[in-house]
Amino acid sequence: MKKPKNTKDTIANETGVSAVQASKRLEGIGEYYFSQKLREIDELNKQGKNIINLGIGSPDLPPHPEVIKTLQEESAKSNVHAYQSYKGSPILRNAISNWYKKWYDVDLNADTEILPLIGSKEGIMHICMTYINKGDEVLVPNPGYPTYRSAVKLAGGKCVDYNLKEKNNYEPDFDKLEERKMGKVKLMFVNYPQMPTGRSATKELFEKIVTFGKKHKILIIHDNPYSFILNKYPMSLLSVDGAKDTVIELNSLSKSHNMAGWRVGMLCAAKERIDEVLRFKSNMDSGMFLPVQLAAAKALSLGNDWHDAVNAIYTARREKVFELLDLLKCKYSRQQVGLFIWARVTGKYANNKDSSKILPLGGGGALSDDVLYNSNVFITPGGIFGDAGNKYIRVSLCGAMERFEEAIKRIKAASPSR
Ligand SMILES: Cc1ncc(COP(=O)(O)O)c(C=O)c1O
Repeated sequence: MKKPKNTKDTIANETGVSAVQASKRLEGIGEYYFSQKLREIDELNKQGKNIINLGIGSPDLPPHPEVIKTLQEESAKSNVHAYQSYKGSPILRNAISNWYKKWYDVDLNADTEILPLIGSKEGIMHICMTYINKGDEVLVPNPGYPTYRSAVKLAGGKCVDYNLKEKNNYEPDFDKLEERKMGKVKLMFVNYPQMPTGRSATKELFEKIVTFGKKHKILIIHDNPYSFILNKYPMSLLSVDGAKDTVIELNSLSKSHNMAGWRVGMLCAAKERIDEVLRFKSNMDSGMFLPVQLAAAKALSLGNDWHDAVNAIYTARREKVFELLDLLKCKYSRQQVGLFIWARVTGKYANNKDSSKILPLGGGGALSDDVLYNSNVFITPGGIFGDAGNKYIRVSLCGAMERFEEAIKRIKAASPSR
């Protein structure tokens, strides 16, 4: 076989055969931290360690039985297997519109202001690809969901961090933001209830965000997947007067309805924004399986009983996690909401500069490694959400009670080491 020429974009591997190099666009885009860490945990498990993973935020509980039944019944029909509309089934769009009215008191036109998504994560990428030109700036929260950062970079944009500090109650420091030049800023990602800090939304904060977006003529991207978890009053940024002039909101059934693997999310905004994003998205996929859409519509019709039952389980688990964090001498707020508990490291690791083999993750990384290697429990270091999280750890509430109890037992047994 003739060897391909070794050009700028090819590289010879050990066998002498040239392999095509990954694009420049991927430079600086690392493998997702969790996939690397999960490999290490796999290795430890192979050595018989039986690691308890308190890191991953995928709900372990099933969806409502009626939702599963709808999927089963619908998928048994012969006429549901074709490609679907790029804009989603009207049944799902109407269900989303009713859901927004019922829980958030927001009016959305089901025909023009709603775009169902194959999970809200893809919406983050679609928005970046729709609006960002090379060199455009995007405000991203630090700490925040790592996908904002990678999607901005993949689209050719430049991330400008805004820090969320405990002393500011994890609100953006708008005065500080006003001091910087905003000319190149096109988008700002916000996310309340905030992941990873667990800070919930307030009307005042939402009004400040909308005012800021309008003043600087930027698009505010509000990522809202946690509003039903341990949160008494679900809120939408779109509920602020005039928000549709500046806001795109992403939402998701992954956490609120225990449907993370089903991949159902939504993008809600003014008609013009929906049309713009659809120009990109319609080139990426060919719609969502109809029975999944119909089952999602069923899920969105569930009432208080569903959310109360799910939250009763998370409330009990949260108490156990507080107990675990007390053992680790961490400081945390009991008011936080969402699927995780965020806690500040104190004691011997509080001022650590570096630790992890994968990233420099400060005191949170050092404590996480200690707990992993000495207690066989994995806890997420806060630094993976940005360096403003280096002094923190994040514990997921996704796991049976016995797992938290066992983790507490193991941490107690190893505590002389910390
Ligand atoms: C803040 C945040 N936004 C978005 C997502 C993605 O959710 P989905 O399953 O809808 O893609 C997650 C998932 O963990 C998240 O934590």
